[in-house]
Order: sequence, then C-alpha cells, then structure tokens
Amino acid sequence: MPLTSPKEMFERAYKEGFAVGAFNVNNMEIIQGIMEACDEEKSPLILQVSAGAKKYAGLVYIRKLVEAAVEDKDLPVVLHLDHGADFAICQEVIDGGFSSVMFDGSHLPFEENIAETKKVVQYAHDKGVWVEAELGRLAGMEEHVYSEKSIYTDPDEAVEFVERTGCDSLAIAIGTSHGAYKFKMDAKPTLDFERLAVIGSRLPGYPIVLHGASSVPQEFIQECNACGGKVEGAKGVPEDLLRKAASMAVCKINIDTDIRLAMTAAIRKSLTENPTVFDPRKYLGPAREAVKNMVQHKIKNVLGSSNKI
Ligand code: G3H
Ligand code: 13P
Ligand code: ZN
Repeated sequence: MPLTSPKEMFERAYKEGFAVGAFNVNNMEIIQGIMEACDEEKSPLILQVSAGAKKYAGLVYIRKLVEAAVEDKDLPVVLHLDHGADFAICQEVIDGGFSSVMFDGSHLPFEENIAETKKVVQYAHDKGVWVEAELGRLAGMEEHVYSEKSIYTDPDEAVEFVERTGCDSLAIAIGTSHGAYKFKMDAKPTLDFERLAVIGSRLPGYPIVLHGASSVPQEFIQECNACGGKVEGAKGVPEDLLRKAASMAVCKINIDTDIRLAMTAAIRKSLTENPTVFDPRKYLGPAREAVKNMVQHKIKNVLGSSNKI
C-alpha cells in the first residue's frame, strides 16, 4: 500500500471516537516494532520524523526504511514531518515524498504564525500534502525552543487561525508537554477537557492533535534504574485522560518518550543480564520487541485504533 494522507484516517477517528497514534521514528528497529504492533492490531498509523531524526538517520535512509515498511505490511501509513521549524524543511520533505507535515509556529506571535503557516499550506496543498499547525505553547523542549510555562490554546484564536490559514489539523495546548518530566511527582495530572470541548464544538468535524502525550510508565523507569539507569522524578499523562481526549475531537496523539523509555529499559536489561554480549542483535532485538509491546499497549489502552483500517 502506498503512503496515505491522514484525511480518511482522521475522518473515521473523529466519527468513531478513537485517535491515530503518531510515533517518532529514528531507526530500523523502531519502525519495525511499530509496524509489527499495528499489523497485529490492524491499526492505522503515522510515522513521524523530527529534524533531529532526519539529522541522525538522514532523510534518504528514513524514507527508504519507511518505503520498506509499507511494502512489507499492508497497512495505511502516513509519513509526517514532526515540528517543522520553517518553510524550508517543510518544502524539502514535501518534495521528498512525505504525505503530511507539521509547521510549528507556536512560538511566533499570532499574526506571524498565521503568515508562515499559510505559506506552508499553499505549497503543501498544491502537492496534495496535509498540514498540521500549532497554536498555544506546550511547556518543555520542542526541537529548538524551550518554553518553561505552557500557554493554553485560546478557542477564539483557534477558530480564526484555522479559517485564515487553511491548515488541515491543529495541535493545541491543554496540559500535555514534551519529554519525561511532565508533572511534579506530588501533582495530580489533569488536562483541560473543558477547553478541548469548547474548541471541538467551535470547529465541528475538525481534527485536533495532542503532542506530548507519553504516559511515562513507572515500571520502565524502575527497570531502567534497576539496571544502572538514573532516571528520577519522571511523570507523564495518565492513560485514561488520553483515552478520554481520543474519544473527543483529538484524532492524533503523539508518542515518542514512551518508546524511548521502553527501548532503553530493554537494552539496559539485556546488557546487564548478559554482560559478555557484544552482538548488537542480542540487545536491539529485545529493544524492537519492547517497542512493539509499547505500541500495542497504546493502541489498546489509549488510542482505541484496533481494527480501524
Ligand atoms: O517533540 C519532539 C519529539 O519527541 C522528537 O524529539 O527532536 O529529540 O527527535 P527529537
Ligand atoms: P512525548 O515526549 O510526550 O512522547 O511527545 C512526543 C511528541 O509530541 C512528538 O511531537
Ligand atoms: Zn511534539
């Protein structure tokens, strides 16, 4: 099956109250683990590539790996640019065959974000490519920009932004954030569902995106630390909150940190249990299996996207 647009996936997700998982990919084992999980669950999926991933693996390698993935499994797959910082990177990957891009102007003043997003939309739509934009600011590190405090998305601005830019989906800030340290250890994690409901009702049928949606399961932290890791104070978004968001207007949920944690825990465990090992397949194999299990868990418990292809 060739790469697809998110359009039909999101239409169905919106109607049937599930979300499509957007998983960050950097190498072959991650892509294979995700594909195996989605194949078993018969789930649609988005493979997303950040500027960091593009730099690490190289655009040609990533694209060819994804090409191999879609040839190997008969699944609808979107290849998406995550957090495109400017027009140039969006243009490069559109020309390189991605079916979807995110232009992230969330750190820009409102009017500038509109102007820059519009430029990307014009270029992308001419080539049939989907555009995700972002309004509001998540706390934490996003590629190049660090934001200490989040600024939740204003519903009036969201409506105006979508109308004026023509972007196809919108990432909003309602309390999630990037990375493993989302909430203080003693805090009760919450998301602003009222805001999500208002934005959803003001933009009927329109797909909303949630970034920073890893749950940071404590068992992985413990497993990492039991094998010499030193991860402390990490806390993510509870899965039941994400499931609720997926049943509302949220059609795309971004997950990267949980995959990193699962992989790292598996590699640490393999190397600790087998200190004489020096064949990379002996620890990258279990890491790939850990990615698969994590993604399958997300499909069942967070996204609700099993049997939706
Ligand atoms: O939101 C960013 C993603 O987690 C990608 O992270 O820039 O380290 O590849 P990265
Ligand atoms: P996490 O860091 O919560 O996995 O979020 C990933 C993300 O939003 C990628 O764009
Ligand atoms: Zn993100």
